[in-house]
Amino acid sequence: MSGFWSFWVTLFSIGCWAWILYWLVGILGYRPTIAEDGTTGHEYDGIQEYDRPLPKWWLIIFWGTLAWALLYLLLFPSVMPGSWKGITTVKVDGQDVPWTSANELASDLERNNAVFTTTFNDKILKDQAVTTQISNLAKLQAQQAKNAEPNPELKSQIDQGIVALAPAVQKLSQDPQAIKIGQRLFLQNCSVCHGSQAHGATGYPNLTDNDWIYGGTPDKILLTLNHGRVGGMPAWKAQIGEDGVRAAAEYVLSLSPGHGSKDNGALNPTLVSQGKAIFDTNCAVCHGKDAKGNQDVGALNLTDDIWLYGGDRETVRTTLRNGRAGVMPHWDTKLGNERIMLLAAYVYSLSDHTKDAAPAPMTATATASAAK
Ligand code: HEC
Ligand code: HEC
Repeated sequence: MSGFWSFWVTLFSIGCWAWILYWLVGILGYRPTIAEDGTTGHEYDGIQEYDRPLPKWWLIIFWGTLAWALLYLLLFPSVMPGSWKGITTVKVDGQDVPWTSANELASDLERNNAVFTTTFNDKILKDQAVTTQISNLAKLQAQQAKNAEPNPELKSQIDQGIVALAPAVQKLSQDPQAIKIGQRLFLQNCSVCHGSQAHGATGYPNLTDNDWIYGGTPDKILLTLNHGRVGGMPAWKAQIGEDGVRAAAEYVLSLSPGHGSKDNGALNPTLVSQGKAIFDTNCAVCHGKDAKGNQDVGALNLTDDIWLYGGDRETVRTTLRNGRAGVMPHWDTKLGNERIMLLAAYVYSLSDHTKDAAPAPMTATATASAAK
């Protein structure tokens, strides 16, 4: 609120209070001269006025309201912002701080969170060692939050702490109750972008298809959720020109079994071979020589039929011309470790892990890639 309005509201509320008090006291102290017949001598249209005491119930309400208002002014930050903090306090972070609506909210959230954490630890996690791990991690995170610039050494300790939670997440992913809570958290926080079934949308990855940009093991999912991710596909227009963009796009399409999309029609072989040269010099650093991508930098696999931004020719060209930078928000400060673990367990449960453990089939391609 601007200074003017704060001033106006303060003046108006205190002014009204004083004004009502003034009149009430004035009226109670007023002693008119009484005529012999008991009237005050005032007469309006033949109606004469007696001097009778004000009704008790009315006075009680009036005094009560005035007292209540005074109490309210004392308890809460009721005058110009900052000049009177009120005597009410709430507990935030274990400390008594003056009441403000923001502090009250923080305090309520903290209290609910404590209930949530206790339930999580006692009823779902049921592993004292992991509870200790989480609280140690939370201490490091709180310390990092106080640094103006993140301390890299602390960051690597925090990452170790996050990764150490992976076995617990794997276990949670088999617990139906944990999955149910994880799903609810997903609907609240993630479905706006990834869809309520986590099937994704253009620019927002499908989380159920076993195709991972950054890795689908619990440790990688935990890191993704904690720190967020930003896709770093550079723009190529300036470097390789429109002709280069067209050639490279054609080569990219040639890599995917379905050539990106049925609508792309036949590919232009000249552009494909020009594109391969461009790819090998410019793109292989990130996407790999075999174009299968690199989860460490989030460079996508270009040899499958799964497209984050789309596989039709014009979309691939747009991707190359302007680059792409998909943003997955970070959740560490917003959700805390317990909720992130439940979400990671839920996300992990969405894809098919029966294949993870099974021995790789000895097909020609599997042998070839094993030989590399
Ligand atoms: C504002 C939109 C947005 C929200 C909200 C969001 N995400 Fe994402 N998420 C993205 C984008 C965009 C990417 C891909 C980033 C990229 O292109 O590099 C992503 C990537 C991911 C990945 C990595 C997938 C992979 O293949 O490696 C996971 C896992 C994930 N999100 C889970 C979640 C969860 C769980 C939540 C809720 C806590 C969530 N996301 C909320 C936009 C969002
Ligand atoms: C610095 C690393 C880097 C280089 C170099 C790079 N890319 Fe990428 N590329 C990425 C990343 C990271 C993404 C994912 C972007 C995102 O998630 O928002 C991506 C995405 C793409 C996509 C989108 C695929 C889809 O599913 O929609 C295409 C196509 C692509 N790159 C082609 C190329 C080509 C062709 C070149 C060379 C001209 C190239 N990239 C060079 C990192 C790189």
